[in-house]
Amino acid sequence: MKPEPLTVVIMGLGYIGLPTAALIASKGINVYGVDINKSVVDTINEGKIHIVEPDLDGLVHEVVRKGLLKASTSPTKADVFLIAVPTPFKEGHIPDISFVEAAIKMITPYLEEGNLVIIESTSPIGTTEKMYDLITSERPELKNRIYMAYCPERVLPGKILYELQYNDRVIGGINPASAKRAKEFYSLFVEGELHETNAKTAEMCKLVENAYRDVNIAFANELSLICDKAGIDVWELIELANKHPRVNILQPGVGVGGHCIAVDPWFLITHYPEESKLIKVAREVNLYKTEWVIKKIKEKAKEFEENYSRKPKIACLGLTYKPDIDDLRESPALYIVRRLIAEGYRILAVEPYVDDFSEFHVYETEEALKEADIVAILVAHRQFRNLRIEKNKLLDFCGIVGNS
Ligand SMILES: NC(=O)c1ccc[n+]([C@@H]2O[C@H](COP(=O)([O-])OP(=O)(O)OC[C@H]3O[C@@H](n4cnc5c(N)ncnc54)[C@H](O)[C@@H]3O)[C@@H](O)[C@H]2O)c1
Repeated sequence: MKPEPLTVVIMGLGYIGLPTAALIASKGINVYGVDINKSVVDTINEGKIHIVEPDLDGLVHEVVRKGLLKASTSPTKADVFLIAVPTPFKEGHIPDISFVEAAIKMITPYLEEGNLVIIESTSPIGTTEKMYDLITSERPELKNRIYMAYCPERVLPGKILYELQYNDRVIGGINPASAKRAKEFYSLFVEGELHETNAKTAEMCKLVENAYRDVNIAFANELSLICDKAGIDVWELIELANKHPRVNILQPGVGVGGHCIAVDPWFLITHYPEESKLIKVAREVNLYKTEWVIKKIKEKAKEFEENYSRKPKIACLGLTYKPDIDDLRESPALYIVRRLIAEGYRILAVEPYVDDFSEFHVYETEEALKEADIVAILVAHRQFRNLRIEKNKLLDFCGIVGNS
């Protein structure tokens, strides 16, 4: 496959689609970015961006100025069609592939013999074959005449542009010819290794990567519950256990958040409930850990009230879903703070990575520590490491604070 005069349509210009579009365009390939959100399209056509990601604004500005990236609300004819629309879940954790279906229906009238269709959206096993059937039921003349593949994304927000280029990729074709074609396409802009397989294995591979993280975090969280009851310092325990050459236990926290690890296991559990028992229990353990943290904070507050006959001010340090980022999506720390505020607790929330938070007042760390009767560490941000906090005030759910 030659970069020119190749034309690529990318459906969905969010955290995955936009950096991918900009990177492909930077290789001299014509990219038509499509999004149903008109304001996203207008912003990109002005050479600007609507998401927070280092270095992306400069790259988008450049490729738009050079005419290599154009955004629109509807697709056009192209050689390659890449789907990067959301796949959330519905009530009861049922995966919602309606956005993928809608995007496939939008591109179907534009498809021609020899085109390559790639799905990058996280999807339940079998989705790519289902979408191929959807296309060929509308356009039977394209049966065995187009290539189709599933190629999941595994980038880390904050490092997306680097990881898009240098991570290894799994390329799952609906047949070997499709995998080969998709591999040729990715080799135009990916430096990491490209591993060919079938579509179902690639779909499951994405889900398994996140379920693996969830299960391992659940193990650490479960240990933290046992240690609390047994009067053992879980951080010391894990450090010692990890001295074993074949043991590598992760760190416990207040739960699991973000848009991948806490979400993707459900894509397996929903469709394979009998078989994915461990994966389901891990999800439950991680959800329970958040409830347990709330319970612990409430117990400490009750104890304070009994001793001092007034409600305590509780500083909650950290709101994001993991340390040293500004992302609040599916954040257990934010959930904990919201729950406590809703139940009438006096919360002094601290989040050094988020300035404009409208839902409730966010305090500076120093200010909150000065006023607080109880301090709960919810996220292991580097700003909170080595704070000196009186031991009897402290609930350190991240094991990072030195106490005085
Ligand atoms: N963000 C990540 O770090 C990450 C990592 C790996 C995989 N994924 C997966 O990639 C997919 C996309 O995630 P994201 O974070 O980029 O989502 P996002 O919400 O940031 O962006 C998706 C975009 O698609 C647009 N859209 C919706 N329906 C459309 C349609 N029919 N046609 C064109 N555009 C449409 C939306 O308006 C939105 O701008 C999801 O399946 C997600 O699970 C995301």
